[in-house]
Amino acid sequence: MSEHGYFIAFEGGDGAGKSTQVGHLVEALEAAGREVVVTRQPGGTSLGAALRDLVLHGEAITPRAEALIFAADKAQHVQEVILPSLARGAVVVTDRYTDSSVAYQGAGRSLGAQEVADLQTWAVGGLAPDLTVLVDVDPATGRARRGGTHDRMESEADGFHAAVREHFFAMAAAAPERYLVVDGGAPADEIAAAVRARLAHEGLL
Ligand code: TYD
Repeated sequence: MSEHGYFIAFEGGDGAGKSTQVGHLVEALEAAGREVVVTRQPGGTSLGAALRDLVLHGEAITPRAEALIFAADKAQHVQEVILPSLARGAVVVTDRYTDSSVAYQGAGRSLGAQEVADLQTWAVGGLAPDLTVLVDVDPATGRARRGGTHDRMESEADGFHAAVREHFFAMAAAAPERYLVVDGGAPADEIAAAVRARLAHEGLL
């Protein structure tokens, strides 16, 4: 299937404020007259919703099983939601994508970043975002912002979240033309303006 739309992923640690930024960007794109499809991972399809519940709230899931569940969610999501939307020219904005798995399962769970990246690439048939916005947050701030809700990932120690953060940085540094890194600790309006400026530069706004 050919792609004519534009694919944006938001990535970052737990409590970074990604979802708020996704909302701001979707508003701006719609105001500019774009068709926008907004989605999230895990989730975003009915299989994905079931997998999300299993992987975030299930018990006794081994690291490799966890990686495979996240990969299955993405495989379904790409076929069912993302590719058809891109094919008709929509802008697709996803809250998390393959980098989350490389950072959380590859670096956080120590399964190996390259192996997890290969698994993810296979699952999504090689579909990469045109732009990834990395909303950076340090583990302590993320924890404070998350407050009381703790799923299986969120309840991991700060060391886990620090490894995840470092790996997000490494991926952004390896391909700076495809990333925008923003400080999740800055005021939400400032972050939103930086994201809009980048998309204006890309010709979308
Ligand atoms: P979610 O409630 O969507 O968190 P957030 O609002 O921070 O995005 O929970 C998703 C959790 O799953 C989050 O802790 C990151 C983790 N995750 C992975 O470990 N691997 C993945 O491939 C994806 C997509 C998410």
